This record gives sequence, C-alpha cells and structure tokens, in this order.
Amino acid sequence: MRKYAAFLTVFVLTVSITYIAHAGHERMIFPYEGIFGHYETMPQPDGGDLRHYVTSHVPYKREFTIFPGTTELYEGTEPHGSFLTVYVNDIALKSIGKKNYENNSIIVKENYSPKKKLAAVTVMYKVKGYNPSGGDWFWVKYDPGFKVLKEGKVKGCLECHGKAKENDYVFTGN
Ligand code: HEC
Repeated sequence: MRKYAAFLTVFVLTVSITYIAHAGHERMIFPYEGIFGHYETMPQPDGGDLRHYVTSHVPYKREFTIFPGTTELYEGTEPHGSFLTVYVNDIALKSIGKKNYENNSIIVKENYSPKKKLAAVTVMYKVKGYNPSGGDWFWVKYDPGFKVLKEGKVKGCLECHGKAKENDYVFTGN
C-alpha cells in the first residue's frame, strides 16, 4: 500500500511539473468550449513558440484540416512554390467564408519545389491586438527544418496579402 502511495505521489508530481513547465511556456487563454471547460493554450506571436505549437502541441499534419476546396500538393502561384498544401486549425476552419478570421486562427502552408520537395513552410496566426492595422496576423516563414527565416509583421507578406484584405488577408477560398 505504501509503495502504491509513493508511486502515486511521484506520478502526480511528475505530471504536475510537466504541465506547469509547459503552461509557463505558452499563454493560457480562457476556455472557449467543452462542457467542463476545455482549456486551450495558444502560443505567443513568436516563431519558436508557434513552431512548438504546430509541430508538437497540436501537430498540424494530424490535427488540422486541409483548406476546404484545395487538395494536397495543388499547383500554386508565385512566390510560394510550385505545389502547395494548406492546412487550417479548427478556429480558422469555422471562419472560412466569413471574410473575417477569428482570433487564434492558424493557417499553415507547405511550399514545395517543382520536384515536390518541401522548400519552406509559411504560417499566418491571428493574435488579438497584435497588429490591428494588418488584420492582427503574425507571419512566419520557416525553412524545411522549421528554422525561422522571417517572422512578425513582415512587410513583404503584408504588402502582397494586402491585396486580399477584403477577405482578411487570406487568398485561398476567396
Ligand atoms: C507576392 C505575393 C505574396 C507574398 C510576398 C506572400 N504571399 Fe502568401 N500567398 C500569396 C498567394 C497568391 C497565396 C495563395 C496561394 C497561391 O496560389 O499561391 C498565398 C497564400 C498564403 C498562405 C495560405 C493562406 C492564403 O492567404 O491563401 C499563407 C499562410 C501565406 N501565404 C503566408 C505568407 C507569408 C508568411 C509570407 C511572407 C513571408 C507571404 N505569404 C508572402 C501571395 C503572397
């Protein structure tokens, strides 16, 4: 019995410490759904934090949906690449067609070369109050190994995506 109690204590402590360490790293937001209050943690507008979120916290390839109306490796246009695969998280998915993406929307786009080799990953992440004059989008460009190449209120991204301003800076599904 004692052994069991000791084991349980260690187990509970380990889980709590892991949870606290993890939560400290990401911003807690208010529960927005779920009968018993489902806590969703969202990353900071930061390339490293966002990488952690989309690759291990909520792995986009498993948890996100391919942008409705597009397919895996569809033929893209300049400047992003010859073939593209665009994924949206659940919040962005619900926003499609509304011309206004909800806060915490994430759109991940894989950019492939003509030989269908991954060349870059570009992400748009909507953060309340982050950049009101630019739709509150946080922009990141990663290399194929998810190293941050550009991040923030990136001028080039904003200027070109500004052409789709009436659809909240999102070209796809417009
Ligand atoms: C010269 C114009 C241009 C620039 C610069 C540009 N984009 Fe795009 N982007 C597009 C177009 C056009 C699409 C639609 C997909 C396609 O057909 O290529 C797109 C699609 C996307 C998407 C999928 C959602 C959507 O809007 O359709 C993401 C995410 C994205 N771009 C991120 C970025 C990031 C991050 C940067 C800056 C590092 C950037 N883009 C710079 C033109 C641009």
